[in-house]
Order: sequence, then C-alpha cells, then structure tokens
Amino acid sequence: MTELDLDVHRSTADITDALRADVRAGLTAERKWLPPKWFYDARGSELFEEITALPEYYPTRSEREVLAARSAEIAEVTGAHTLVELGSGSSEKTRLLLDGLTEHGTLEAFVPLDVSESALAEAAEAISADYPKLEVRGVVGDFTEHLGLLPGGQPRLVVFLGGTIGNFLPADRAQFLRSVREVVDEGEWLLLGTDLVKDRETLERAYDDSAGVTADFNRNVLRVINERLGADFDPEAFDHVSHWDEEQEWVEMRLRAREAHTVRIPGAGLEVGFAAGEYIRTEISAKFRPEKVEAELAAAGFAVEQWWTDSAKRFGVTLARSVRG
Ligand code: SAH
Ligand code: TRP
Repeated sequence: MTELDLDVHRSTADITDALRADVRAGLTAERKWLPPKWFYDARGSELFEEITALPEYYPTRSEREVLAARSAEIAEVTGAHTLVELGSGSSEKTRLLLDGLTEHGTLEAFVPLDVSESALAEAAEAISADYPKLEVRGVVGDFTEHLGLLPGGQPRLVVFLGGTIGNFLPADRAQFLRSVREVVDEGEWLLLGTDLVKDRETLERAYDDSAGVTADFNRNVLRVINERLGADFDPEAFDHVSHWDEEQEWVEMRLRAREAHTVRIPGAGLEVGFAAGEYIRTEISAKFRPEKVEAELAAAGFAVEQWWTDSAKRFGVTLARSVRG
C-alpha cells in the first residue's frame, strides 16, 4: 500500500463539537431535523456504496452512463490540469473523467474532498495506485466550510456528482454555488450532477429499497449520535420514511418514532421527547428541471456550456464555465 497524505481540516474534538451544535439545534426545533453529513462515518459510507448498487437506486447508473459517453468531450472542452471532486466518496464514477483527462494529456492532479475520512483514504489510495503519474491530494473537510483551501494548477475542473447538490435546502444551495464560484477563477469549470423530477413511485422507491439498505443508512445517523455523544437512541424504534414532496420537488427522508419515548443525549446535555409518529427530517434530495439548473448556475456566476442526460432522461449532468460575477 502507498503512503498517502491527506489534509485533515478537522480534529475529533471539532467534529464532536459540530455534531453537538447540530443536534442541539435540530432536535430542539419545533419540527425536528438533522443535517445529512452525519450519515457518513465509516459504516455510513459503506452503506452508501451498497445503495449505489441497488436496483431501485438509479442515479448512480444513470450518471455513470452520461460520464462514460461524455468524458472525452469534457476533457477536450475543459483541458483541465486539476480535477477537484467535492463529496467524492468512493470516486468510482470519477475514474471515467480521470481516464478522459489522462488520455487528453492535460491532467496533473486530483483533489478529492470528503467529510468521510475512511471513504476518502480508501479512494485516494486506490486511485494513486491505478494512476501512478497523477498527484493525488485528498482533503478531509466540509464542502460548506473548507473550499478556500483547495490546491491545484489551473485550469481546474470542480466536479460535484451523485446529485449531492440536491441535499441542500434551496437557500443553502445558492450559497454553496456562490462559494464554489468564489474559489475558482473566471474560465474555470464546474461539472454538476443533478437528479431530475420524475414520477413519485420511482423517486420514493429509490430512497426506500426492498432490501432495507436505505433504511439502515438513514438510521445510521442515530448510531453516530450514540457513539459520539453517548446517546441512547434505539434505531429500531424509528421507521424509515421516503416521501416525495410534489410542491417542493424534493424527496424527504424521515425517521418516524413508532411510539412515544424519551432519548437521553448526555454529550449534548439534552433529553429529547418523541410523540408517537413524530419524525426527524434527516435529508432532502431535491430533483431538478434543466431550466432551474441553468438559472441557479447563472445566479451564482456560471454559464452552462453543455448539458447531457442519460438515455432514460433520469439524471442530468451540466458542464458550466465560471463567468465574471
Ligand atoms: N460523489 C459520490 C458520493 C455521493 S454521497 C457519488 O456520486 O456516488 C455524498 C458524499 O458527500 C459522501 O461521500 C459524503 O461523505 C459526502 N459529504 C456529505 N456532506 C458533506 C460535507 N458537508 N462536506 C464534505 N463532504 C460531504
Ligand atoms: N446524494 C444522495 C442522494 O440524494 C444521498 C442519498 C442516497 C441518501 N440515498 C439516500 C440520503 C438515502 C439519505 C437517505 O441521492
């Protein structure tokens, strides 16, 4: 195994402090919620990888189809020297882009950034072994906080895949896109994967598979709180719910208490009461229409260069160029 340097922007104490603050804010709210980044400890990252292979979870396959068809074109248009990947996870699909850019001959460095240290370390090591000439510089960090620190020669291509952009609430999404625009120079690139609006059944099932992997993934956030804050959540006391909100055009993931009970969270100094049927919103996954993606990118200072979809038109991939802001 290669020795690999990761830039780590958070200590264990920082992480626990951040989780404590999020748990206090979210679980004392009138309508309880938790931010989705807390799904992804080592077990959560493994469960997510399992999700990507489930028959019901089409986004990974659809996005892969687009990347396989378009990576040469993306390399040609961008001529990127650095590929920066936000929320990189296993970086499996990203290999298609690395292949395209390597073949094109411009790529020098790959900078994956993720909150999940285990997923990042594994991906960075596997990619350095498979692309020996590439400089791989993994960054453990939060893409809502640590974007200012991204290394790499220009032009850079920043990629944000998997539809993860949909996990922000609309105002946070606008803020995030502006923060990406701030760290790139005019003429640099963003490649954005967005899942598309479609029928309720397909969407709800993508987040509620028959094997129960997604339910297990959703409950993982409770195990993370138990481990880091000494809480006594019984994950099995909550049902997993996937609900398509037609008005907001997002799938909402919830954990719904089966019965009334109280949970102790000593590390946050809290006792949290749940009524029967009361739920915690653990994630939204917004679904898009092409016009909306284009308008939101424009508002942040990116002009769409190309837009592609898979053959079943389930998932969109947009290549955008940063313009004068
Ligand atoms: N890009 C991969 C993984 C998508 S899942 C794919 O397309 O399959 C979302 C990824 O984003 C996970 O790896 C998770 O650890 C990471 N993530 C979630 N919130 C994050 C945050 N705030 N900062 C950095 N990474 C985050
Ligand atoms: N970015 C993924 C998505 O929105 C994350 C995800 C997939 C997810 N399945 C999930 C989050 C289930 C919570 C629960 O598709």
